[in-house]
Amino acid sequence: MTETASHQQLDQMITGYWSSQAIYAAASLGIADLLVSGPQTAEQLAAATDTNAGALYRLLRALASVGIFIENEQQKFGLTPLAEFLRSDVPGSKRALAMMTGDEHFQAWGEILYSIRTGKTSFDKVFEKPFFEYLPEHPDKAQVFDQAMTGIHGRETGEILESYDFSEMKTLLDIGGGNGSNISSILQKYPEMKGILFDLPHVVERAQAHIKQAGLSDRCDLIEGSFFASVPEGADAYFMRHIIHDWDDEKSLTILRQCHAAMPKNSKLLVVESIIPEGNEQFAGKFLDLVMLLIPGGKERTVEEYRSLFKQAGFELERIISTESELSILECVKC
Ligand SMILES: C[S@@+](CC[C@H](N)C(=O)[O-])C[C@H]1O[C@@H](n2cnc3c(N)ncnc32)[C@H](O)[C@@H]1O
Repeated sequence: MTETASHQQLDQMITGYWSSQAIYAAASLGIADLLVSGPQTAEQLAAATDTNAGALYRLLRALASVGIFIENEQQKFGLTPLAEFLRSDVPGSKRALAMMTGDEHFQAWGEILYSIRTGKTSFDKVFEKPFFEYLPEHPDKAQVFDQAMTGIHGRETGEILESYDFSEMKTLLDIGGGNGSNISSILQKYPEMKGILFDLPHVVERAQAHIKQAGLSDRCDLIEGSFFASVPEGADAYFMRHIIHDWDDEKSLTILRQCHAAMPKNSKLLVVESIIPEGNEQFAGKFLDLVMLLIPGGKERTVEEYRSLFKQAGFELERIISTESELSILECVKC
């Protein structure tokens, strides 16, 4: 790499939040939704969003320079393939992810040095309470969080279904299943299967509509509770995607032990996470690990770290099934 190219690469990394915060602003204002019926000027968009037309023009011009929106000769802005994903109503929408990342996450990242110095979550310092206690008190943010999870993890369900055969499982329990989009897709692929969605009360309340809309109310039970207290008994598969990474080892062990206590003898524990590889290779999970440090107080783990956690909770890691993405399915049985 030439010296100039190195400078450019580093500059882009250092100023990366310029583009992410600009996307956050456009996503929060719902600009992409307003452009579905056709291109509009900054004045028209400003009137619809109660913003300053000059400032909004500058925001959209900057975003158009990186392929999000496009300005035509009449100074009207339209959608581009990237901007399409900032609409609220498209499959794989990233709007909620942009809104969440630019809001609470960005504020927590602003205090990253606090976390690096203390090992504690900067989210708690900024918001004065843990992330999963903050959400129920802010229903609008909690809804954005559920949708952001679908935005960031939604594609993973397809990859999991491609890589793992659930056909022997009569009942699947999705622990911390969020808005139900994951269990809905699994149940749709396996019409004989029954599902249970388990999550905190405020999440289950919102998930109900999703399960109903998917036409799965008769095949999917919704159970509210906390996995630190107990999880439902009797399923064939105890499925947890992006749950254990939210917690430190002590809390993760509590969750795993609750699963162990509830699981029938021959059932399977399926933990779906990114496994941190050895060495210097690029791997998104290494940055997601920082999100875990700053926000919920969890961590991404290596395979040996997972193996050791499972062992302490009474499980044996039998198989690791990789998917097309960074995600792996860690299949465990009771020892
Ligand atoms: C990172 S999200 C993952 C959501 C979903 N499994 C996915 O892959 O998109 C973590 C989930 O754990 C749930 N959760 C957090 N604390 C919980 C608790 N004490 N008991 C049950 N669920 C909890 C959250 O409400 C959220 O839905």
